[in-house]
Amino acid sequence: MTEVRPKLLVVDDEPDVIFSFRRLLGKEYEILEANSGDEAVKVVEAEDPEVVVMDVRMKGLDGIEALRQIRQISPRTVVILMTAYGTTQSTIEAMKLGAFDYVLKPFEIDHLRQILAHAVRAALDMRRVVRYQRPSEPERWEKDDIVGLSRPMQEVYKLIGRVAPSDLPVLIVGESGTGKELVARAIYQHSNRKEKPFLAINCAAIPDQLLESELFGYERGAFTGAAMPKPGKLEVCDGGTIFLDEIGEMPLATQKKLLRVLESGEIEKVGSTRATRVDVRVIAATNRDLEALVAREEFRSDLYYRLKVVEIRMPPLRERREDIPLLVDYFLEIASRELLREKPQLTSDAMEVLQEYHWPGNVRELENLIKNTLIRHPTRVLNASEIVGQLGSTSVAKPVGDISMAASAEPEVLPGPGLDDVHVRAIFEKIKDSHPLPPGFDTFDLIERRLLELALRHCRGNKSQAARLLGISRNTVRKRVEKYGLQHLVSGEE
Ligand SMILES: Nc1ncnc2c1ncn2[C@@H]1O[C@H](COP(=O)(O)OP(=O)(O)OP(=O)(O)O)[C@@H](O)[C@H]1O
Ligand SMILES: [Mg+2]
Repeated sequence: MTEVRPKLLVVDDEPDVIFSFRRLLGKEYEILEANSGDEAVKVVEAEDPEVVVMDVRMKGLDGIEALRQIRQISPRTVVILMTAYGTTQSTIEAMKLGAFDYVLKPFEIDHLRQILAHAVRAALDMRRVVRYQRPSEPERWEKDDIVGLSRPMQEVYKLIGRVAPSDLPVLIVGESGTGKELVARAIYQHSNRKEKPFLAINCAAIPDQLLESELFGYERGAFTGAAMPKPGKLEVCDGGTIFLDEIGEMPLATQKKLLRVLESGEIEKVGSTRATRVDVRVIAATNRDLEALVAREEFRSDLYYRLKVVEIRMPPLRERREDIPLLVDYFLEIASRELLREKPQLTSDAMEVLQEYHWPGNVRELENLIKNTLIRHPTRVLNASEIVGQLGSTSVAKPVGDISMAASAEPEVLPGPGLDDVHVRAIFEKIKDSHPLPPGFDTFDLIERRLLELALRHCRGNKSQAARLLGISRNTVRKRVEKYGLQHLVSGEE
């Protein structure tokens, strides 16, 4: 499989910093370098990197001015700033110019990796082109095409075309796996803001208390651990589009703040009473029944009506069965390309089975099914029994990771929400080739310690939150913190 590494431009006048990026991240990223702000601007122009990590203080053109210029030339390049303690004020200023995030020097590699992963995802989201016409030549499907010629899909395309150029908020509803995220990206790409930033936030994936600060930012001292102020994603996204996925999971207090954004374009940071103006287009999606949530007072009705002005309903796959052959063709082609295989044929019995199935997991389930069948049956023709063997066994969970890693003979038991078999396998592969363990610890200890550490950092040292995230009791967290000597990660208050 040919893998294209994202381009990461590192800008620093200290060669050591560039050297350590190469050493630590050279495998995952194609590292480009620049020693000054001027050079950075030139490299961005010539190479169009996905992500730039740049020192704020440099001789000549400093990071802030370089950021301003980069935003001009290439608004879809994501810029992360590096800053040392003591220069934070200028960093805050720089964030207002649209930096994606900042890291403090000396940085912790895991933290940096995490920020980079988010940054790359954001950069790719902005660059991926979603097409929604049938390719003119056969065998010309591209990843991220929206496939479907049925009436309900034609309606969806019409709506996308109609709403994309306006700045109105859009609500996309529909069952899981029907393509809501794909539609959100299509709207962005057909909008007048397509050259401006696009950020996707999954409200279900972020703990309630963090979601608000993630979206709106916070002032210094707003809570324990907020040593420095930080702008929220709405501010980072100023001028652009924000995609609020799984909006049904948003806590009521945050909903209220979001309503204000929609009504007056104002945000208020956590810990602040001052309002800041932002210009952001909101696209929201959910697979929950918002009306029912409103009836139970779990979702604000005023926000619901505000969002619902433009609503796109994604049809479930069982209501557009005529699209199934086209989708099958599409996934067969994309998956066999990824697996470097010749595209197999389906017998007509097999196609019939697919057209009759009820598809509770919609297009995602069909996609997983085709991929799994392809991996398990490396034949040129796939028949009905091979398809039936896969029906219902493919997880309805969202796919994660690399398709080739899912290749296994036995059925996977998925460990739980958000955790896929491929991840556990990846850990196992590492363990197989790893060094002797430190005395007194077994593999499970090491994994447990690391998971706990990550969870505590994520929850800013809050034990109860970390416990909830990991699905264990607070008491267990407390005991393990002691066992592994992680007291320094725990915050004083709860
Ligand atoms: N019409 C379509 N054509 C091609 N691929 C599609 C289509 N609809 C969905 N997919 C693919 O199916 C998968 C699920 O789509 P997507 O993530 O957009 O669903 P969703 O509605 O956001 O689901 P959830 O509610 O679970 O988040 C993705 O891999 C997407 O590319
Ligand atoms: Mg989705």
